Amino acid sequence: MSASTPLPRAEATGDRAEAAIALDRRYEWKALEEHRAQLGSTHLRELFDADPERVDRNSLRVGDLHVDLSKNLVTDRTWRLLIDLARATRVADLRDAMLSGEHINVTEDRAVLHTALRAPRESVVRTDGQDVVPQVHRVLDHMAGFAEKVRARTWLGRTGRPVTRVVNIGIGGSDLGPAMAYEALRPYSDRGLEFRFVSNVDGSDLHEALIDADPATTLFVVASKTFTTQETITNAAEAKRWLLDALGREGDDEAVARHFVAVSTNADEVARFGIDTTHMFEFWDWVGGRYSYDSAVGLPLMIAVGPEQFREMLRGFHLMDEHFATAPAEANLPLLLGMLGIWYGGFHEAHTHAVLPYSHHLASFPAYLQQLDMESNGKSVQRDGRPVAWNTGPVVWGTPGTNGQHAYFQLLHQGTRLVPADLIGFARPGPDLPDHLRGQHDLLMANLFAQGQALAFGRTAEEAAAEDVPAHLVPHRTFPGNRPTTTILAGQLTPAVLGQLVALYEHKVFVQGAVWNVNSFDQWGVQLGKALAKRVEPALTDGEDVPGLDASTASLVEQYRSFRHR
Ligand code: F6P
Repeated sequence: MSASTPLPRAEATGDRAEAAIALDRRYEWKALEEHRAQLGSTHLRELFDADPERVDRNSLRVGDLHVDLSKNLVTDRTWRLLIDLARATRVADLRDAMLSGEHINVTEDRAVLHTALRAPRESVVRTDGQDVVPQVHRVLDHMAGFAEKVRARTWLGRTGRPVTRVVNIGIGGSDLGPAMAYEALRPYSDRGLEFRFVSNVDGSDLHEALIDADPATTLFVVASKTFTTQETITNAAEAKRWLLDALGREGDDEAVARHFVAVSTNADEVARFGIDTTHMFEFWDWVGGRYSYDSAVGLPLMIAVGPEQFREMLRGFHLMDEHFATAPAEANLPLLLGMLGIWYGGFHEAHTHAVLPYSHHLASFPAYLQQLDMESNGKSVQRDGRPVAWNTGPVVWGTPGTNGQHAYFQLLHQGTRLVPADLIGFARPGPDLPDHLRGQHDLLMANLFAQGQALAFGRTAEEAAAEDVPAHLVPHRTFPGNRPTTTILAGQLTPAVLGQLVALYEHKVFVQGAVWNVNSFDQWGVQLGKALAKRVEPALTDGEDVPGLDASTASLVEQYRSFRHR
């Protein structure tokens, strides 16, 4: 900011014109730029040495989560300025608008009420004049009744045998959430039931899920918010054909009714597909696909872990919702995590964010977060359609520790790019891990702590030399450090802890979208590819000429056809 042309503070003016000020022209943004320049290359070593209280002041306990933010490239002033920016961009106003059912998804004119999915039975959450909590609990009860039957082996297939394999067919939010949560909570699941998650329109996905399945004991959950998604409907139609062929019951509605249930907002399409809508578990257009696994989309999870554990998970979500709605900015964990991302993306040129769970059960958590974060904030226009002039959502990626240490951590430690990372770990392993394997847990967690330490503090040339590293190798064996991490610790990966974690990231993504002024709740960017695939397919299948293909794509189609016929 040029000192002679100060921009007004939002709190001071509060008027509409002020609200339209571009993010990067705000007083608070400019103040952060100045602060960043002042910090220069201040090292975490210096920040820790200068401040014995740093860890205490940068650690937070929310519910079952202990979060250590101290290894981030921040000072007290950074936090103050980031919170000023959150205030100026009215994150809290947008949050309150979301929680009170306003149509904050402006491009689709929809409310955004995933928080209602975990609202306690006695609460009231209105949108468009209607309290949605009773319908949420009606569906949860419907799911519970069904899940209990499958778990009790009293849900029988067409031949009278109980269902023992559940195959979820869905994609995006109708797959990633339930698949991730099922893996996360496997120790709580009924191990006598088998679960498969089929998403890809590559026929191999369905094939592998069914290759060893017995049709008589297989149940399909077809999950699709719209029930028009090409991949899901194609796979579901194939699954129906497989089932009816195998049971020798073509056209048998009762067989479909015993072996297919649907999760959707679209009863008409469910009925058109041939699934009895009494076996449909409903959700609503105010639940975004990537925010939906705690809705009926979680049906396979509920079957796996049972209604009580599922409700425990919802209680975890709700705890974090309450925290986000009420905690002061300085102690509001999703707000602070969100603002850290603004800091790294906007002022440190970080383009990616790594999520590194030291938990085998959270192996799919980064993939789940990819959709949550990148489909939400991978935008380059503001809510009113103006282009953004600042970095928005990062590339989110990661795999479980310690595997990543032997793959890409080299770049995290010594590469030229800054990659802020979240390290997630638990004090105790899963409850059903046998005693002889429990001992390995300390080794796993020692690695988490060691990586955070090495990334933050590195190893200086002097330290390397003092450890008898030969002089010519010192540059290679020096670690610069100053690589930021946030550590999230909990006692155990329970259903409630999973709920808290997921809600934490949901709200973090919300905060960032609010500051960047993008609509985090639409996904128009996925439409063009879908439409083009529909146009290209006839060229592949029927050899039709497709007018208007660009030269490269036309040539690739030609190659594809010739390869196919070899
Ligand atoms: O194509 C993107 C998307 O619309 C996601 O947002 C959604 O989670 C996924 O497709 C699946 O959609 P549906 O649940 O309607 O099948």
